[in-house]
Amino acid sequence: MNSKQPEASILTIFGAGGDLSWRKLVPALFNLYLEEWLPERFYILGVDLKSMTKEEFASHLREGVDNFSRRGKPQDKEWEGFSGKIGYLPADFTDAKAYAALGKKIEEIEKDWDVTANHIYYQATPPSLVEPIVENLGSAGLIQDKIRTRMVFEKPFGHNLESARQLNDMITSNLDESQIFRIDHFLGKETVQNILAFRFGNALFEPVWDQRYIDHVQITVAETLGVEHRGKYYEHAGALRDMVQNHLMQILCMVTMEPPVSFSDEEIRNKKVDVLNAVHPIPDDQINKFAVRGQYDAGMIRGDEVVAYRQELDVKPDSSTESFVALKLLIDNWRWQGVPFYLRTGKRMPDDISEVIIQFKPVPHQTFPASALEDWQPNRLIINIQPHEGIQLSIQAKQPGQDFRLGTVDMHFTYKEAFKSSPPEPYETLLLDVLLGDATLFMRADQVEAAWRVLAPVLSEWENTPPSDFPNYQAGAWGPKAADQLIENDGRKWVVPHCAEIE
Ligand code: BG6
Repeated sequence: MNSKQPEASILTIFGAGGDLSWRKLVPALFNLYLEEWLPERFYILGVDLKSMTKEEFASHLREGVDNFSRRGKPQDKEWEGFSGKIGYLPADFTDAKAYAALGKKIEEIEKDWDVTANHIYYQATPPSLVEPIVENLGSAGLIQDKIRTRMVFEKPFGHNLESARQLNDMITSNLDESQIFRIDHFLGKETVQNILAFRFGNALFEPVWDQRYIDHVQITVAETLGVEHRGKYYEHAGALRDMVQNHLMQILCMVTMEPPVSFSDEEIRNKKVDVLNAVHPIPDDQINKFAVRGQYDAGMIRGDEVVAYRQELDVKPDSSTESFVALKLLIDNWRWQGVPFYLRTGKRMPDDISEVIIQFKPVPHQTFPASALEDWQPNRLIINIQPHEGIQLSIQAKQPGQDFRLGTVDMHFTYKEAFKSSPPEPYETLLLDVLLGDATLFMRADQVEAAWRVLAPVLSEWENTPPSDFPNYQAGAWGPKAADQLIENDGRKWVVPHCAEIE
């Protein structure tokens, strides 16, 4: 028996015919079903414009599960039980009448079950449809019950601080904050959550987790993928909005937040907002010293030739959209005063790897003679978020032999070795939390706005001054030269992610 069991729930997915449901949501729900996390009374109601029967919809979803589930293709018997929980309603989201039909369908399901279920509405639609859906649900009286109705929002959550505020105002005039679940799927990653376990479940690390012992922190989220078929969306987003505003900022919060008093959703989110509010404002007249943008040119990825960003589908041939960002942030509080945080993310990088590197300061006094120190390095802690989920601590040890020489050795743990199991997909964790009503891993309105506020000076400078050097890095490189300069100006270097070594 699992430790937590959600109550009877009807999950309505707006935009259910799209990629997100196909690749992520339904494979995740199916795995929750197989692991018996779903309540017995559970229904997925797909809503989309396309006219389809529920059988056609279910068979489309089955294809998605066959292709994308971490467990591979399911047995027919396993799928049958699950597919009985799937329904479909063709609807135009902008038409108020569609919501009466939706309300009726939900009523029918509940009548059949003879219980009052939780109603969860999932917005898997383009951002322009968010407002009509929320307002129509509101007018149809479908989201009044503050306890039993919840709504899940995908990113992008706004386009800048102003639009995020407007969106939050619109949503919170229809729903209580407690009903709102803003997804950042990085927070569903086991290794991102493990940052909290590592920091606050051990007595060893927290005492040295501050400016007295830490020299700087690097956060790298690198992908070999280009923009694929997402040119239309990406052209308006770029790496700063697509990755930094949400995923990298959340990782930054996990690494830097103060110890929470309890594991309650409000407490954890309060602590995260505190850090974002303490980020030193990037000075308007020094953006170049703190932020670097890049766009990939043609190049080689793992031996294959790939085209430049400007040649990708639905991308303008003179596009100014950045596919790479490097940032330097400082945090104005007692713990982090003077410690730089270097963040970088990019598409068409040499490897798929996400890592946090905590670089400790040198020892205060060197006891050993210079001859012992030729290979000496300060301690470094590497948190590998993906793909080799784990943690590595580099320490100094005496190299064997009659000469006294220090050398670096690594202590490591990987999820694969330690737990012999693959972690759940982020969407499994997050969907289960939505069903349970636990908002700890979701972004609150003030958090989203605080993250936009940090980036606002960069967004505005980049919008006002189009780049003159794009494309400025080859596909398969670690970004443009200016990104190296950004960190080298401070006498430091990017650490090449190397967790492949700990496989
Ligand atoms: C998404 C971005 O939020 O995260 C994508 O929109 C990016 O551009 C993706 O590729 C990366 O997520 P993951 O889980 O595959 O590392």
